[in-house]
Amino acid sequence: MNAVAWSRNPYLPHAAQVVERVEEGRDIFTLRLRLSDAGARAAYRFQPGQFNMLYLYGVGEVAISIVSDPDDPGLIDHTIRAVGRVTQGLQRLKAGDALGLRGPFGRGWPVEAARGRSLLLITGGLGCAPTTSMIHYALQRRESYGALTLCHGVKHPGDLIYGERIQSWCAAPDTQVLLTADKGTPEWRGRVGQVTQTLEDIAPEMFKGVAMMCGPEPMMRAVAENLLRRGMAPADIYLSLERNMQCAVGHCGHCMFGGKFICKDGPVFSYTEVSALLAVKGL
Ligand SMILES: Cc1cc2nc3c(=O)[nH]c(=O)nc-3n(C[C@H](O)[C@H](O)[C@H](O)COP(=O)(O)OP(=O)(O)OC[C@H]3O[C@@H](n4cnc5c(N)ncnc54)[C@H](O)[C@@H]3O)c2cc1C
Ligand code: FES
Repeated sequence: MNAVAWSRNPYLPHAAQVVERVEEGRDIFTLRLRLSDAGARAAYRFQPGQFNMLYLYGVGEVAISIVSDPDDPGLIDHTIRAVGRVTQGLQRLKAGDALGLRGPFGRGWPVEAARGRSLLLITGGLGCAPTTSMIHYALQRRESYGALTLCHGVKHPGDLIYGERIQSWCAAPDTQVLLTADKGTPEWRGRVGQVTQTLEDIAPEMFKGVAMMCGPEPMMRAVAENLLRRGMAPADIYLSLERNMQCAVGHCGHCMFGGKFICKDGPVFSYTEVSALLAVKGL
């Protein structure tokens, strides 16, 4: 957490305002937020892979990943799927509406450990959201990282979001985007099949780099096993996990995963740290 910005009570949300709202797909939308207080805005910084707690006044709070550009922390984007009480309430917000924001929280993607190496990002469904800020970060520092490949899987072609962002990533230097859908349509240009199958289309050198993934846990387990078979070291495979959150600062225990707090030890972990826990059903 940024010490300058959040030296006050970490449970107190900052006032924020919706600057823009973008419809991304069915029940998926992006809220672009701005902290209302100029001092808080100036001090706010985040790392790729961190999350905020968004507080819908009078309803409740939810953990949502930050998807915007870490180099432009004045505007903070969150892509949200409306699934329940709070996220459906957030779905009704429009430009100018107010909400609360605590954060940023957690340990993000290993930007330093990955420096100088190729980046293989593998995502499923809305799992593309938490990796987006990492893509922005690496593309802004293109000379600091090797080749970047994004493998992204959706169930149906209609579930694909971020069309414009994906087009801009395809045009970036030394960057490859491989899309797949479980079921195709005549218009679909990507692969048909599971995201693990896209790994067959990747240059072998990519498996000497660092992998970062986010998506449903069964998908991440399957991808990790596939990467290990291709020779990647467990310490070079990172994944972002989700559990119910309340305090987000390691006090309440709601997010416990074995002996780890997802809110402060994660949400990003190396496979070495969590492989044994991932094998335990229902944890
Ligand atoms: C670190 C972290 C980062 C996250 N980042 C994002 C993000 O970028 N975008 C985003 O949309 N969500 C994200 N989530 C998930 C988000 O916090 C939950 O979807 C949210 O808490 C649901 O709250 P609710 O009150 O709307 O739903 P609730 O009323 O709590 O739940 C309603 C129903 O939806 C189900 N449900 C809850 N979460 C999900 C889910 N993720 N997918 C499908 N069904 C669910 C519940 O099991 C329940 O049946 C993240 C979670 C964590 C821990
Ligand atoms: S959310 Fe309270 S300990 Fe992690």
